[in-house]
Amino acid sequence: MSDDKTKSASPHVLPSLPYADTALAPVISAQTIGFHYGKHHRGYVDNLNKLVAGTEFAGLPLEKIIAGTAGKADKTAFFNNAAQTWNHTFYWNSLRPKGGGEPPAALKQRIEASFGDLDSCKKELAAAAMAQFGSGWAWLVLDGGKLKVVKTGNADMPLTTGMKPLLTIDVWEHAYYLDYQNRRADYVNAVLDTLINWHFAAENLA
Ligand SMILES: [Fe+2]
Repeated sequence: MSDDKTKSASPHVLPSLPYADTALAPVISAQTIGFHYGKHHRGYVDNLNKLVAGTEFAGLPLEKIIAGTAGKADKTAFFNNAAQTWNHTFYWNSLRPKGGGEPPAALKQRIEASFGDLDSCKKELAAAAMAQFGSGWAWLVLDGGKLKVVKTGNADMPLTTGMKPLLTIDVWEHAYYLDYQNRRADYVNAVLDTLINWHFAAENLA
C-alpha cells in the first residue's frame, strides 16, 4: 500500500473512506459501514492513541508500532489496536464500487502463474475466508515472489511474517452480520464477485 494510505502522524487519524458509505450497497450496506468504519475502525484508532500516549510508541508510524509489538505478550493491546487500524484501512481500499471482474493484465498473469486461473484464486480466497475459525482475515499476499492466499486470526496480519499483503477480506462478524447474519459465504462470494479491488492489489504488487 502506498504511504499516503496508511501513514498517520501521531495522534493517529482515521483515514477517510475511499468512497461514499452507500457506494458498496447492496453487498455491504451503509448501515454496516456506519458501524464497521464509524465505530469499530474509529475505535481502534482512538484506543491506539490513548495507549501510545506517553510511551515509547508515541509519535511512531503505525508500521513501526506493529513491528515493535508483534508477538510480545506484554504489548498485546498495542499490537491489536495498531494492526486493526492498519488492517481496516487496507480492507476499505481492497474494495471498490463496481469491483470484481478481471484484474489488470500484469496481476492477472501473476495470478495465473500461481493459481492456474482467476477462478481458482477466488476459490482459494473464499475457502480461506470460510476456514478462518472465528474472527480474522483472508489475504492475497506476495510471498517470496509467488502469490499466495493466507488467513490470519483476530488482528494478525501478513506483514509481521515477511509477506506483502495485496488485498484482504475482513471476516469478523461485524463485517457482515447486519447484512448476512451467519451467512459468511454469501458475503465473501458477493465481495469477490462485485467489490474486490484488483486494481489496488495490482498497485501493491508493482
Ligand atoms: Fe472489521
